[in-house]
Amino acid sequence: MSRNDELKARAEAVIPGGMYGHMSTYRMLPEGYPQYFERADGCRLWDVDGNEYIDFMCSYGPMIAGYANPRVRAAADAQRNQIDIANAPAAVIVDLAEKMMSQISHAEWAIFAKNGNDATTACNMIARGRTGKRKILVAQGAYHGSQPWAARRTKGTPDEDYVHFPTYTFNDIESVTQAVAQASGDLAGIVVSAFRHDAGFHQELTDPDFARAVRALCDKEDAALILDDVRAGMRLSLDASWSEFGVQPDLSAWGKAIANGEPIAAVLGSEPWREAASKTFMTGSFWYQAAPMAASLETLAILNEENAPARLEALGQRFRDGIYEQAQRHGHSVLQSGPAAMPTLMFEDDKDSRLGFAFCQAALKEGVYLHPWHNMFLSLAHSEADIDQALEGTDRAFGTL
Ligand SMILES: Cc1ncc(COP(=O)(O)O)c(C=O)c1O
Repeated sequence: MSRNDELKARAEAVIPGGMYGHMSTYRMLPEGYPQYFERADGCRLWDVDGNEYIDFMCSYGPMIAGYANPRVRAAADAQRNQIDIANAPAAVIVDLAEKMMSQISHAEWAIFAKNGNDATTACNMIARGRTGKRKILVAQGAYHGSQPWAARRTKGTPDEDYVHFPTYTFNDIESVTQAVAQASGDLAGIVVSAFRHDAGFHQELTDPDFARAVRALCDKEDAALILDDVRAGMRLSLDASWSEFGVQPDLSAWGKAIANGEPIAAVLGSEPWREAASKTFMTGSFWYQAAPMAASLETLAILNEENAPARLEALGQRFRDGIYEQAQRHGHSVLQSGPAAMPTLMFEDDKDSRLGFAFCQAALKEGVYLHPWHNMFLSLAHSEADIDQALEGTDRAFGTL
């Protein structure tokens, strides 16, 4: 019995379903994906049975500068050795807030938390606090965390919980305009993602006209434009992700990559929303931890030094071009969607995901860790040589289909 199987057998007795959430391999991933890893370094992972993989998931987003990045680790360790959690925060919280202000155009204040969902939920609270209104529009199918409003998975949540979270269709100006009209007078905010990165679907880049229309609707209704940059933040831009369209949010939510995997999330806001933020009671036992803040400062320094978005895009494009060439040569139609830095790879006419699962399973055997239906992630720890080595594996994987 492999160590992975042995751990799974033990876990089935003590962890509901054997594993939970997005890291459960049970229903989420093809047979053979390891449930447990033992080591991580750079862009590589080793499972508990010693198999090595070039990783294209980056822990679902947090890893951006390499697992065990020595600079980030040293910064976190130095802070931890001095002080991490206490009766009040350490000075580094002010340093990090100032750094965020200097980097993110719309940001004039910051609040730090732990998970992305803390940040997205805090944005809603602040939007409601300032406007005194109730409705928050959320895109159909979007994911903003696992809390009921943010994931809309009905199990365990009565329908009434969604009453003040009407939906619209992302990138559809008419749909969001209609949803705003219906909520008019009671609209506190509109939550948008950096782009449409719903799991299980082909990804859709944001239509700049849609972004501008949402901004105009929020202005007209005196509602908050809330940008959820938790997944895409720092990967597409060193500013908020809609900055490239000249559209700035009022409130933005960050997490995942901002500290290369140390646990920290951030809410950033513009001036008009500061007072409401100061009057909304938001906190958590671990929100003020200093080590992740030090890690974040170091991560942001690295991302700026290396112009991370351009580098991730170039690496992603190299991978994408290689996959296209291989798919054509092997006679398969692949659909690669989303930004190259956060690529999604699915097969055409593959409704039951049979081909996608078989391909990823074969790639895994070749030491390439891909995902059949979720967007993937590049990192600064990937080199051209890593991409090329991964492509050798995917070439052999296509050959098995
Ligand atoms: C776009 C987006 N928003 C929010 C979240 C929630 O972040 P967390 O899992 O850290 O609570 C996620 C997590 O995947 C996400 O992808």
